[in-house]
Amino acid sequence: MPRYHLTTFGCQMNAHDSERMRGLLGSLGYQEAPSRDDADLILFNTCTIRGSADERFMGNLGEARRIKRERPDVVVAVGGCWAQSQKEAVFTDFPFVDIAFGPGEVNRLGELLARERIQAVGAFTFDGRFSGDLPSLRERRHQAWVQISVGCNCVCSYCIVPAVRGRESSRPPQLILDEVRRQAEDGVVEVTLLGQNVNSYGRDLRGDDRTGFADLLSAVASVPGIQRVRYTSPHPKDIRADVIAVHRDVPEVCEHIHLPAQSGSTRVLKAMRRTYDRPRYLDLVARIRDAVPDMALTTDLIVGFPGETDEDFQDTLSLVREVGYDGAYTFVYSPRPGTEAGERMGDDVPAEVKSQRISALIDEVQNTARGRLARHVGQVQGVLVEGPSRTDPSRMSGRTRHNVTVNFAGPADEGALVGVTITGSTSTTLSGEVARVAQPAGAA
Ligand code: 5AD
Ligand code: SF4
Repeated sequence: MPRYHLTTFGCQMNAHDSERMRGLLGSLGYQEAPSRDDADLILFNTCTIRGSADERFMGNLGEARRIKRERPDVVVAVGGCWAQSQKEAVFTDFPFVDIAFGPGEVNRLGELLARERIQAVGAFTFDGRFSGDLPSLRERRHQAWVQISVGCNCVCSYCIVPAVRGRESSRPPQLILDEVRRQAEDGVVEVTLLGQNVNSYGRDLRGDDRTGFADLLSAVASVPGIQRVRYTSPHPKDIRADVIAVHRDVPEVCEHIHLPAQSGSTRVLKAMRRTYDRPRYLDLVARIRDAVPDMALTTDLIVGFPGETDEDFQDTLSLVREVGYDGAYTFVYSPRPGTEAGERMGDDVPAEVKSQRISALIDEVQNTARGRLARHVGQVQGVLVEGPSRTDPSRMSGRTRHNVTVNFAGPADEGALVGVTITGSTSTTLSGEVARVAQPAGAA
């Protein structure tokens, strides 16, 4: 039995593609090796969103080079976004790499391995476009990712994703629903719909397949056994009234939207080509909260975009306060090759200013999120149990519908939905104990 070792970098889309790689390799007769040194196939699923992602991967690739020197018959395979961005140069710059494939080619992994003659069992042919159609080895028994589209048609000036993941293409709704039904039969209770721009879903579908994102959400929510539906990541420009209405009307659809703002400054948003300005973003937030007052909102924010002044940055700080985010991912701008900003806008915010801004932003996010999460103290929240807490294995851990992690005193079984009385909060987590009432009203 050949053995593989897989390292995954980057976003949930990559984590999900890795589940597909595991499923595919399993069906080819591969087993997972505990370390790279034990593997016949060293596989990486890479990210290239920021320079720091490339650097982290380079360190790992260096170890693969060492192993290849010691054991020349080991196969080194590099998939994902970095591989796509380096398509031309990878085999010359890194001659010890045997196989490279982009994020849209997970399905070709079997064929590429066959060429290296290390395939264990027969041939695996698959000609679909969506890695979602491949066999999958899920990370969690009760939770599943479901790929609903690939690629992205946005032109955000800082972002390399459209260049590496290509044009947007939606998976036909019947295939998505079939997959969710199979998952539900297999014990899945929570699904997260995945797409690079998840809520522009369906615009390229024709004929009987024609479905919008709101209808897809409702259809997924109605699959028997599915109790929670999430999705990530939407683009604010594509959150329409029908999607907000589904959040209000369909009980399985959770009270959380990850709503990447990127900046609070209208001027910077324009240079980023986000197609909304600050007032329009705030209007969207108001409409969401009007329909679902307790909606948790999280976001992505970038500091140090080319030309960002102190005033622009203050606008980002005040956006955090004004929206009242339950959490945020914060990034320092990193120029990417081939992007509009990377090629033509320079990188003129000095490193020390970037680092002051990111610290100030992290403080603001923490203060705001701490204030927001405190509202849950004293409530009974429905928690989907994920397993023992990472920080204290004597306690259990799970997430609320608002997508907040709760560490609590058990007993509780993995995969169960339990009512937890919230007794404490920080800026990122809640703590509590199992409530006597098993199911709080509306909080399942
Ligand atoms: N520099 C910094 N952050 C970036 N992001 C995307 N591209 C860049 C870049 N060039 C951030 C955005 C996006 C998140 C996934 O990564 O905030 O939403
Ligand atoms: Fe990284 Fe973006 Fe690719 Fe995800 S889509 S792996 S974040 S470059």
